[in-house]
Amino acid sequence: MTAHTLDELLAEGVRGRHVLVRSDLNVPLDGSTVTDDGRVRASLPVIAKLAEAGARVIVMAHLGRPKGAPDEKYSLRPAVERLAELAAFPVRLAADVVGPSAKELAASLADGEALVLENVRFDARETSKDDGERAAFARELAELTGDGGAYVDDAFGAVHRKHASVYDIASILPAYLGELVRTEVEVLKRLTEGAERPYVVVLGGSKVSDKLAVIDNLIGKADRLLVGGGMLFTFLAAQGHKVGSSLLERDQIGTVQSYLERAAAAGTEFVLPTDVVVASKFAADAEHEVASADAIEGTAFGETGIGLDIGPETAAAFAKEIATARTVFWNGPMGVFEFPAFAAGTKAVAQALADATSAGALTVVGGGDSAAAVRTLGFEDSQFGHISTGGGASLEYLEGKELPGLTALGA
Ligand code: 3PG
Repeated sequence: MTAHTLDELLAEGVRGRHVLVRSDLNVPLDGSTVTDDGRVRASLPVIAKLAEAGARVIVMAHLGRPKGAPDEKYSLRPAVERLAELAAFPVRLAADVVGPSAKELAASLADGEALVLENVRFDARETSKDDGERAAFARELAELTGDGGAYVDDAFGAVHRKHASVYDIASILPAYLGELVRTEVEVLKRLTEGAERPYVVVLGGSKVSDKLAVIDNLIGKADRLLVGGGMLFTFLAAQGHKVGSSLLERDQIGTVQSYLERAAAAGTEFVLPTDVVVASKFAADAEHEVASADAIEGTAFGETGIGLDIGPETAAAFAKEIATARTVFWNGPMGVFEFPAFAAGTKAVAQALADATSAGALTVVGGGDSAAAVRTLGFEDSQFGHISTGGGASLEYLEGKELPGLTALGA
């Protein structure tokens, strides 16, 4: 089965019809301020196309991980306010998900208007492991569309979730693949099916356990795996180095060692840091110094020293590897980029990707954190081949896993 597309839905005609769109509006917030609106901007085109074609658009989205009940802290209001600022058509926010407010506003939508339901995770059935509970919730969502309703999945960031608004709804309403999801899948396919060589993958972020499956899958496929971020310390420990008080997942050391052994035989080279920035504590104003990767405890901070970024020698080495690549995938910051003193490694990798893009390589930045990092550090989206809106979703795609949101649509 091949998935039906948004173009097919538009060709059928949507004027006067209620169309449920699943978007990923899971944006980072500082209080009620959206600190990176990338996912809002990425979601707008499909909502706008439908509205312009006269649909009555009902957007479903989640924010954070509330505990299955309304919680003001996780309200979609800030994201929806940003969407309304960017949209050329009216956008309203319901006070609930499938309650009286959602029902009333959905029924009173005019052609070309959009309504966003409150955080779908305010209803525990959205993420329930019980198929019947999820299906019942999906039916209530579908009922908001009245007769002639349709469903469009445009939430690439959530396609790896078997949730009611992503998975179950697709078997209740006629379902279509949104353009954001289609584009994301097309790009990621280029990474998994015959990526142009050399293929360099840069992995960072704090937890090595989140990345094990993707590392496992990339051994033998990528030419080089560059490792930074908090997870690098588990790699250094696997090489026998002491890492002071840096982030370390002791229980993963054995797995990492087996990867290091397997990689050499499979033709994939791990490029590990040779130096790191070690700080006295986890704080923006912490004292810090650069240490060799095998002498992290040799700084003035001794065993209490904590590594917060890759060092300059490593950053330069990573940049050199990236410069030779024809395909680059990057997921996860190299250090605590939110603190300017520890942002240099992430900045160097972002710059190297930008330069590789100019030199004609396909560069893909995957993951909410990495996407937010490049924007926070002053880079433009256009400096990269593709910035994926999916964090876990893009990793699971590269892991070769089946993604429920795509399966449900036959994609
Ligand atoms: C993400 O932030 O990667 C997506 O929005 C999915 O969020 P989740 O990991 O809470 O399901």
